[in-house]
Amino acid sequence: MVDIKIKSVKKLKGEIKVPGDKSISHRAVMIGSLAKGVTEIEGFLNSEDCLSTVRAFRAMGVCIEEGVSGSKLTIEGRGLGGLSAPEQVLNVGNSGTTMRLLLGILAGQDFPVVLTGDDSLVERPMKRVTEPLRKMGALISGREAGNLAPLTIRGGQLKAIKYKSPIPSAQVKSALLLAGLYAEGETAITEPAKSRDHTERMLKFFGAEVEVDGLTVKVKSRPVLTARKMTVPGDISSASFFMVAAAMFPGSDVTITGVGVNPTRKAILEVLREMGAKIKISPVKNALFEPIADINVKGDKLRPINLEGEIIPRLIDEIPIIAVAAALAEGVSQIRGASELRVKETDRIKALSVNLAKLGVKVEEVPDGLIIRGGSPLQGAEVDSFGDHRLAMAMVVAGLSARGETTVLNTDCINTSFPGFMDTLKKVMSYE
Ligand code: S3P
Repeated sequence: MVDIKIKSVKKLKGEIKVPGDKSISHRAVMIGSLAKGVTEIEGFLNSEDCLSTVRAFRAMGVCIEEGVSGSKLTIEGRGLGGLSAPEQVLNVGNSGTTMRLLLGILAGQDFPVVLTGDDSLVERPMKRVTEPLRKMGALISGREAGNLAPLTIRGGQLKAIKYKSPIPSAQVKSALLLAGLYAEGETAITEPAKSRDHTERMLKFFGAEVEVDGLTVKVKSRPVLTARKMTVPGDISSASFFMVAAAMFPGSDVTITGVGVNPTRKAILEVLREMGAKIKISPVKNALFEPIADINVKGDKLRPINLEGEIIPRLIDEIPIIAVAAALAEGVSQIRGASELRVKETDRIKALSVNLAKLGVKVEEVPDGLIIRGGSPLQGAEVDSFGDHRLAMAMVVAGLSARGETTVLNTDCINTSFPGFMDTLKKVMSYE
């Protein structure tokens, strides 16, 4: 297992690109596999999580070729009814998105599949997806009555439902929309707050009939999905590590080019502005189905922040790195209404509270979030990633401003979403 040792820098300076968006890359493979014709994807995120999706669809008979760089994919789509039964259990590693969205697609298939994952994924809740899919007609069994993988699913004759989701979750919404492609009638999902809408956008882009009305999304069954050519924008969640790292040093000046700025994902920009960073967003013209921009961040003294309510789903994956920014901002920051963090790749509330305390931060863990009394200088320490990619990267960024040396243990997990993270970081680290 690889550990990363990091020392403080003076500021960050330069221009970088981040790899393709993880959520969009998963969806491009899934929907491309269900479309008719050859889909070409540029900017695909060639990371462990997205490769789990590629392997799963290959195992179901889809021919997917990788270009030399790994960021170009060619998918020979088989049409909605063209998947075949895999011969083996599908192991989707650490990827919650693969497992939950795939359950939606498998609910529409007339063959049984066993799905499993790594030690973290088999402890994450799946009932949020399996319960409504059962209502649509899928047969699902697994530990804790179908809450925990390994899960066996056999789909087939689905009927459309109108589902009110108790949690704002793009994975739940997407699983039901994908199942809805196969269901008799119109499937509708209403969520309590807006979550990322990449599935809705991509389904429309491939030709499905999708209607969005406030917090409700509807999809009509059996569309003809037609293959597309597309470029995946840079992942704003990956960019956020550099945005925060730049924001926390006065004198920093970092530009990240070609980043996806979908309104359901870009709340981090509002947050950093409110905390004092200077942010310039220059939209890139001719973006196809997702808005793209170059983002410039200049650092300054940071102010504390209070986050709760409907903004939380729009920055859920950025909370680990926002917590690091809060640790450096003088005053009390509160992150509440974020109990979903407890069921991510690790319990992120607990992991952040343990790690920030090791770095000398006054932090209080509450059931649904964190209270951080920031502003004292961070002290270098040994911290663990807890096997969570976003925790690992957030701690490396914290180490950039800590006194002495910080060691982040067990960082192989960074490859889940951001292979090459350290190389990109080294390009912008400045000591003068
Ligand atoms: C994702 C949705 C979010 C997010 C995850 C990716 C997606 O999960 O945390 O990293 O691609 O749909 P939830 O739907 O559980 O909130």
